[in-house]
Amino acid sequence: MALLTWNHACAVGVKAMDDQHGILLDTLSELRLAMVRGCGREQVSKLLDQLIEFTRMHFWSEEQLMEQTGFPGLAAHRAEHHRLLAQILHSAHRLQHGEAVQMSDFLCFLHGWFIDHVEGLDQQYGPWLNEHGVY
Ligand SMILES: [Fe+2]
Ligand SMILES: [Fe+2]
Repeated sequence: MALLTWNHACAVGVKAMDDQHGILLDTLSELRLAMVRGCGREQVSKLLDQLIEFTRMHFWSEEQLMEQTGFPGLAAHRAEHHRLLAQILHSAHRLQHGEAVQMSDFLCFLHGWFIDHVEGLDQQYGPWLNEHGVY
């Protein structure tokens, strides 16, 4: 599987959100390394908890900014955040409770999730926030 690397398509043009996306990417990379190195379930589980906690905070931050500036796509974006978080929680729960989860499948899902969401939907709020004085 390809390494997760930052690229310009990930930039949304709002510093705090770009920084948070960088942290998300670092956490995903750490998780990937732990899995590849065959680290124990406990360590993988701890990293997953960190990822989930940070993702929650990040989604909330984005939604706050969109709400404060009256972004018209907020409802759809929020719904997508809910859907993604539910998916991650479902997979993490299975993994953390000893169910046989194919690690590579799980990583592919997380990788796809990050790339699709950040390079897709997240790109829509950048120009709007900039127009409303948020950089
Ligand atoms: Fe985001
Ligand atoms: Fe988002």
